[in-house]
Amino acid sequence: MNAQAAVAPAPVTSMLRLQVSAVIDETADARSLLFEVPEALRERFIYQPGQFLGFRVTLGGKRLTRCYSMSSSPWTDTHLKVTVKRVEGGRVSNWMNQQVQVGDWLEVLPPAGHFCLDQQQAADSRRPLVLFGGGSGITPVFSLLKAALHSGERPVLLVYANRDEASVIFRDELRQLARAHAEQLQVVHVLDSVQGFLDATQVRQLVRHWRDGEYFICGPGPFMDTVESTLLALGEARERIHVERFVSPPDPHSEGPPVDVETDCELLLVELDGVTHEIVPGPGQTLLQSCRAAGLEVPFSCEEGFCGACMCTVEEGQAKLARNDVLSAAELEAGWTLACQGRPEGSRVRLKFPG
Ligand SMILES: Cc1cc2nc3c(=O)[nH]c(=O)nc-3n(C[C@H](O)[C@H](O)[C@H](O)COP(=O)(O)OP(=O)(O)OC[C@H]3O[C@@H](n4cnc5c(N)ncnc54)[C@H](O)[C@@H]3O)c2cc1C
Ligand code: FES
Repeated sequence: MNAQAAVAPAPVTSMLRLQVSAVIDETADARSLLFEVPEALRERFIYQPGQFLGFRVTLGGKRLTRCYSMSSSPWTDTHLKVTVKRVEGGRVSNWMNQQVQVGDWLEVLPPAGHFCLDQQQAADSRRPLVLFGGGSGITPVFSLLKAALHSGERPVLLVYANRDEASVIFRDELRQLARAHAEQLQVVHVLDSVQGFLDATQVRQLVRHWRDGEYFICGPGPFMDTVESTLLALGEARERIHVERFVSPPDPHSEGPPVDVETDCELLLVELDGVTHEIVPGPGQTLLQSCRAAGLEVPFSCEEGFCGACMCTVEEGQAKLARNDVLSAAELEAGWTLACQGRPEGSRVRLKFPG
C-alpha cells in the first residue's frame, strides 16, 4: 500500500526523441518511417504488437500530438516502424509523408495502447484470431498478424478492406506471408471499387468458419461499426472484440468542457498489476496526475483524451471526464474511464487498470 500527500498537479509527459533511419513509400498515399532505437532507450521502447507511439510536432505554430501504430512486430522486426496514411487536409499525416526525411529527429512518446496480444495469447491456438483492417487500420493489425504467425499455430483470418487495389498497403508482404503460412493464414481482400463497402451480410459470410474467435478491428468508423455490431449480433462475446479508433485530438487551443476542479474525494484506491495502492488525490488533479504523483507507473500517452492508453475501470465511486474522444457509450456504461481526463467524485473512488 502507498500513501501520498496532496501535491500540485504536475505535467506528466515523458517526451523522447528518435531518429528516422529509413523511409519506405508503401503506396501513393502511405509511407512507413523506421526508427533505430538507441541502446539507452531500448527499455522505454519495448512494445506489444498492436501498440502505438505518440508524436508531437509543431506545425503552423501549433503543437500537435498524433498517434501512429507500429506496423512492425517486436518479435519479428529489428526496427521500430510506423506507417502513416495521408488524410485529405490532414496536417501531420501529410507532413509525415512529404517532409520527414532520413536523419530527422522526431519527438516521440513511449509505446502505449491496449489493442494488443500478449505473447501467451499470441501462442494460444485454441481460438482463431480474426483481424479486420480497413485502409490505414492495417498498421496495428499487421503487427498482430506477424506476431501471431511467429508465435504459434493459431489460425489467422485477415479481412482487409481498401478503396482499390492501388491503396493496399503491405500487399507484397501479405502475399508472401500467406504463401509461407498457407495452413495457418487466410487473407481476404475487400475492395470498395469491386465489392462496395463491407456490409453485415459479407461479415457474416466471412466469419462463418471463424466463430468463437478473438477479434481485432481497426479502420474507418462505419467499417468498424459494421463489423463490431455484426459480431455482437452473432453472439460473439464483447470482451473478445477489440477495437482501435484512429482519431485526431482537438487542436491545443480548443478547451474541453469546463470542469469543476473541487473534489470531495479523500481516498483513491488504484489496482495496478494486481496490487491495490491507496492515494490521497490532490485538489484538481486528474486520476492520472494523482497516480503519477504517487509514483505509480500507470499507462498513458497523449494526455488529451483521444488515444485510450490510460483506459481503466471505475470499480467504486465515480469519475468525471473533462474530454472523451475515444470511449463509446457502451464502454462508459461498462465503467471505463480515461485516467488523463477523469477526476474522482465521491469520498472513495476505486480504479482498476487492465493487466
Ligand atoms: C491510437 C491511434 C493510432 C493511430 N494509428 C495510425 C496509423 O498507424 N496510421 C495512420 O495513418 N493513422 C493513425 N492514426 C490516426 C492519426 O493519429 C491521425 O489522426 C491522422 O493521421 C490524421 O492526422 P492529421 O494531423 O493528418 O489530420 P488533422 O489535421 O487532424 O485533420 C483530420 C481531418 O480534419 C480536417 N481538419 C483539419 N483541421 C481542421 C479544422 N481546423 N477544421 C475542420 N476540419 C479540419 C482535415 O481536413 C482532415 O479531414 C491513429 C490514431 C490513434 C488515436
Ligand atoms: S493518455 Fe491518451 S486518452 Fe489518456
